[in-house]
Amino acid sequence: RKDLLELASLSREEIDRILDQAVPFKDLFTRSVKKVPALKGKSVLMLFYEPSTRTHSSFEVAAKRLSADVTNFDVFQSSVVKGESVRETVETLQAMRTDFIVVRHKRSGLPGMIARQTKASVINAGDGAHAHPTQGLLDAFTVKEVIPAPAGRKVLIVGDILHSRVARSTSSVLRRLGMEVAYLGPGSLVPKACPDGVRRFTDYNEAMAWKPDVVYLLRVQMERQDVQYFPSLREYHRVYGVTPERLKRLDDEGIWLMHPGPVNRGVELCDEALDYGRSLINRQVENGIAVRMSVLYSLKPGGEE
Ligand code: CP
Repeated sequence: RKDLLELASLSREEIDRILDQAVPFKDLFTRSVKKVPALKGKSVLMLFYEPSTRTHSSFEVAAKRLSADVTNFDVFQSSVVKGESVRETVETLQAMRTDFIVVRHKRSGLPGMIARQTKASVINAGDGAHAHPTQGLLDAFTVKEVIPAPAGRKVLIVGDILHSRVARSTSSVLRRLGMEVAYLGPGSLVPKACPDGVRRFTDYNEAMAWKPDVVYLLRVQMERQDVQYFPSLREYHRVYGVTPERLKRLDDEGIWLMHPGPVNRGVELCDEALDYGRSLINRQVENGIAVRMSVLYSLKPGGEE
């Protein structure tokens, strides 16, 4: 496979291979082995048209741990600000013969367009509300660490599902692992037509009565709100956020807590939730490196065998 653009195109075997391969990569650096020569001589270009902390830095660390050379293309210091198109930028960068392009852009489908234009392996690091495949994979890896047999277990994804590429990718991969998925959020922000088999809730108590094993909170993305109705942040916290009372219930029922970051404190989560014993939020970040190493190691730039 040359590119990773979305998870729907991966077979179950490919998903399992990426997740299984991430285990020894994680093991290596917990044993303080900082680098392996797997991608020595290869180059990785980071092309981020939107801000990122976790995805950008963990791809960079992952590539360096595989001994690849990493170039950070600074969109905001480049000819992009003079109006250069993505196509021109990619053609220019292609002349430098990069092996991998990791791209984030607000336009859905743009990584696919770049992939058709270049021999480099293109990895989608988030495109609009479409997909964030490596987030989905690292979430699946993290869930499997605490729930080794995930088939039949339940994940409740809470928040602005409509605008969330994380909801799409994470629910897609967890369902491929056999998990049951439900969405919870304000009626205007949860699609009326959920994917087949995904339950839809707008009431927190009804959703909790469904007995999830994992509650996965999405970041409220104020930058993508274009719908008529969005509750005030205080109202959102009251109705859908993890308040101290709800945190106690999660603890009593042994429920794992996840969030892709960055967290809006006081909106999705109360301050106390940051110290919650079953929070997997930091573990998601840590696992992102091993999973992205596995993704880089699995792809074949330029159609190599
Ligand atoms: N989860 C995630 O994509 O975070 P960043 O925006 O910081 O990369």
